[in-house]
Amino acid sequence: MTGQPANANLKGAFFLDEMVFHPSPEFRKNANVQDARIYLDAEENWLEYWNKEAEKLHWFQKWNFTLRWEQPFAKWFVGGKLNASYNCIDRHLHEGRKNKAAIIFEGEPGDSRVLTYQDLYREVTKFANVLKDLGVKKGDRVSMYMPMIPELPIAMLACARIGAVHSVVFGGFAAGSLRDRINDAGSKVVITVDGGYRRGKVLPMKKNVDEALKENDTVEKVIVVKRTGTEVDMVEGRDLWYHDLMKDALIGCPAEAMNADDMLFILYTSGTTGKPKGIVHGTGGYMVGVSSTHRMVFDIKEDDIYWCTADIGWITGHSYVVYGPLANGATTVIFEGAPDYPARDRFWEIIEKYAVTILYTAPTAIRAFMKWGDHWPAGRDLSSLRLLGSVGEPINPEAWLWYYNNIGKKRCPVVDTWWQTETGHIMVSSLPGISAAKPGSATMPLPGIEVDVVDPAGNPVPAGQSGLLVIKRPWPGMLLTVYNDPQRYVDQYWSEFENMYFTGDRAVKDKDGYFWMLGRVDDVINVSGHRIGTMEVESALVDHPAVAEAAVIGKTHEIKGQAISAFVTLRDNYVGSDELVQELKKHVAAKIGALARPDDIFFTAELPKTRSGKIMRRLLRDIADGKALGDTSTLANPETIAELKESYTD
Ligand code: PRX
Repeated sequence: MTGQPANANLKGAFFLDEMVFHPSPEFRKNANVQDARIYLDAEENWLEYWNKEAEKLHWFQKWNFTLRWEQPFAKWFVGGKLNASYNCIDRHLHEGRKNKAAIIFEGEPGDSRVLTYQDLYREVTKFANVLKDLGVKKGDRVSMYMPMIPELPIAMLACARIGAVHSVVFGGFAAGSLRDRINDAGSKVVITVDGGYRRGKVLPMKKNVDEALKENDTVEKVIVVKRTGTEVDMVEGRDLWYHDLMKDALIGCPAEAMNADDMLFILYTSGTTGKPKGIVHGTGGYMVGVSSTHRMVFDIKEDDIYWCTADIGWITGHSYVVYGPLANGATTVIFEGAPDYPARDRFWEIIEKYAVTILYTAPTAIRAFMKWGDHWPAGRDLSSLRLLGSVGEPINPEAWLWYYNNIGKKRCPVVDTWWQTETGHIMVSSLPGISAAKPGSATMPLPGIEVDVVDPAGNPVPAGQSGLLVIKRPWPGMLLTVYNDPQRYVDQYWSEFENMYFTGDRAVKDKDGYFWMLGRVDDVINVSGHRIGTMEVESALVDHPAVAEAAVIGKTHEIKGQAISAFVTLRDNYVGSDELVQELKKHVAAKIGALARPDDIFFTAELPKTRSGKIMRRLLRDIADGKALGDTSTLANPETIAELKESYTD
């Protein structure tokens, strides 16, 4: 592994404690939120605060109670009725945005499409009618396995319109992962494409769907959008072309009046077991949370061109490419490709092309840009930018400063936003018009949100000490449950502490109340801002005939934040070799998807275990990061450590 580990910089972060960046008077003067009293007002009556935010949406029927809290299950805006698709589209047609660009699409090959709010209305209502004609009803699940093309948000909003529940599966997942997610959701329909572009190559997405559906008995129809023109097998009676269905579909479809706590979508995320969790988000609370935070954190204005680079297959794409910006009547950019194709200035080219004003991206991308060199952004006109955002993992101060200096040209505030798939929307972030930013700190909880750092007994730790990050009161966008597994919801998030939601993260609160996020404490690895469970990768490894046992850890990585390292013991008759390493890496990529491919695989005769047989991942992490080993007294087989260290440094 090369260079200085990214997380090591986090320690350095504390030295930057005194480096504070204030918004310019100009930015402050025009900001959506200019008065710091918002925090106090929200604190005084947090339910009233959320009531006011909720009133900014369109409700078919107003709620009777803001919150019904039967821990750990929350019901927000009880009795209220609304529709997410109506809020993202129809409302704007009556508010003077009919001809405004809702979506600006930039395809990987350089093709471009602009959909106005009126266009979006037409496409979404037509597709909603298509789904209805295929028998999709309120509450039915629809899986989507698609690249970043406008048909993906169109399909999501069409589902939302008729009350069907969408489950978007990231296009980088392999057939097996897709199958598990379709089966767990019990989807009736799958929407996909013939193929997806990736750095000039074509990914066989339809083929993966065919493979996934070999072990499925719920899916009745597969709808295929033609994107690359790749030849595909169309299964008679099951598979239908999107363009054929849309040809004669009627424009106009009433938006179903949904209860505030009706499901809007399921999104699978990795947890600490091998089985991904179906995080369930509702309609009312989620829409209030995403629209409110999007308006405040990104300071969204009528003429902004807003670009969040996340894939819609992750929560950031759901909340801040689709629902947040569209609920606010903003123009959202959707980019299909990669930052380095055809050249390493693709992002900067797009900013120049569309005069993007707000950019929201991930530290892993920023670190890659730093490495590629300042000349790439310097060669493009970035003067349209006025605000920058970061999400997905801790941003090291060096990356923060590079972003601020080279992309924002010292003019643009940087908002570092901490949140999770489960929280639905941003929880900790600066408000760009009023907060002083400290590079590397996500700053403070947003108004109305109560977050703290506690010790294992649940007591707040003193300023400057690290502890566990918890959320102390319900918030509107909180997950409703884990799909089909409410017990897992309780166990995972609400059993570590009484009365508090446990995030799985570690953090420090400094003397000024600023939060410094320090990464996960559980068996979840954050690779380039993508969450991967160690157990998922371990299951994929032991599925290979050569592997007896596997332990997977996250190792600090200069660009990706964390990379996957696997320690493997082999079955009798197998010997470790470079070929086997390659084969195992390929095996994991084929089982889960390329995003889970380990960077390193080490063979060892034994894994370090406690006397009760638990693998001591902490020791493996220390070995991988070259750190002094922590407490080894509980180890049942101490001799393995010397051997492991040797194999690691080989
Ligand atoms: O560890 C935190 C990290 O990403 C985790 C959530 O991952 P996921 O559900 O995939 O959602 C990612 C996008 C919201 C968190 O538990 N994380 C996310 N944002 C930050 C972060 N860590 C530090 N700083 C952030 N800004």
